[in-house]
Amino acid sequence: MSNLMSNYSPLDVTFVKGEGCWLTDSKGDEYLDALSGIGVVNLGHCHPTVTKNLVDQSQKLLHTSNVYRIDNQEKLAKKLCGFAKMDKVFFSNSGAEANEAAIKIARLYARSKDIENPIILTASQSFHGRTMATLSATGQAKVQAGFSPLMSEFMHVNYDDTDAIQKFNGNSDIVAVMIEPIQGEAGIIIPKNDYLNQVQDICRKNGWLLILDGVQSCMGRTGKLFAHEHNEITPDILCLAKGLGNGVPIGACLAKGIASEMLTPGTHGSTFGGNPLVTAAALGVLDVFQNTKVLDNVNQMSDYFRSEFDKKFSNNDSIKELRIKGLMIGIGLDSDKVDCTQLVKKALNDKLLINVTGSSIRMLPPLIISKKEVDTLISKLETLIGN
Ligand SMILES: Cc1ncc(COP(=O)(O)O)c(C=O)c1O
Repeated sequence: MSNLMSNYSPLDVTFVKGEGCWLTDSKGDEYLDALSGIGVVNLGHCHPTVTKNLVDQSQKLLHTSNVYRIDNQEKLAKKLCGFAKMDKVFFSNSGAEANEAAIKIARLYARSKDIENPIILTASQSFHGRTMATLSATGQAKVQAGFSPLMSEFMHVNYDDTDAIQKFNGNSDIVAVMIEPIQGEAGIIIPKNDYLNQVQDICRKNGWLLILDGVQSCMGRTGKLFAHEHNEITPDILCLAKGLGNGVPIGACLAKGIASEMLTPGTHGSTFGGNPLVTAAALGVLDVFQNTKVLDNVNQMSDYFRSEFDKKFSNNDSIKELRIKGLMIGIGLDSDKVDCTQLVKKALNDKLLINVTGSSIRMLPPLIISKKEVDTLISKLETLIGN
């Protein structure tokens, strides 16, 4: 019997080694990883630049405390703010904690405006994390089940529906709108091209903060470093995690303007957040984005995947649609024709790692995937869902 709590039900496979898009299990079998540890190892397993930074840093210093200045953290903050056109950063250990910081900032913003009972609008089907605040923000009943009382400050509106937000125009209790640029856990839901621009307009007119949860959709995943760059906007708050550390736990809550001034000494903190080791890894990640053509690869492999998919699956009536932005890939299936509950295991037997959400396959392959590996992926999908 395992001594682990039962909140996970892991598949019966243990991976012992990873390189690029491939994982090796304890029996020596190799698997194509089309999930990247759920959008984490975006640069592939054991990327040499990240590994080198980790090795070098671990021989010098692992941890001090945020009581003292941390050189890597300051460097990373400067680079991230430069790339994201933001002013300041708080470093956390996860996506949920980055969002938690954003929610606390929104509360302080509310205080600064004398709003006693602030409301944050978030989207149905959204996912923002598993802490009490972020699961309250999340728009999925299954994530909240059993955990009431929830925090009451979140109101959920339909995603990709600006009318649903406009209805709150002039409501002086609202302080922020918090959304994902693309919904990930919902099965890759891509909104209309100008959705984020319109949401930003509404926020600006009302003096609400725009909080973008880019935990899954940023760090190159959509072909730009940050997903909202497709819309040429900068939010008031941007939350990152997952791909920021390429496998080490680091999250970041970036803020701009008034939102960046809300946290003052003693109002927030984290023992591990942004320690010398994790920030060394994240600096390596940013170096790779800056010095290689990885984003070009995302766009090329995205186009290639789409064209091969169209070629191979155009006559497959169990497929409803392909939703793809960069290498965020959702395949909507007809659950009357495919037993979606068996797909993850079936794929695993064929040495392919995917995720299934409801009746959608979700894939987040490493951004360094090659044409040949896309061919392998397509051929494994043919085995999985027929053609
Ligand atoms: C959009 C989004 N926000 C937040 C989170 C939570 O991140 P973490 O699991 O690192 O707390 C996730 C995780 O899947 C996510 O996809």
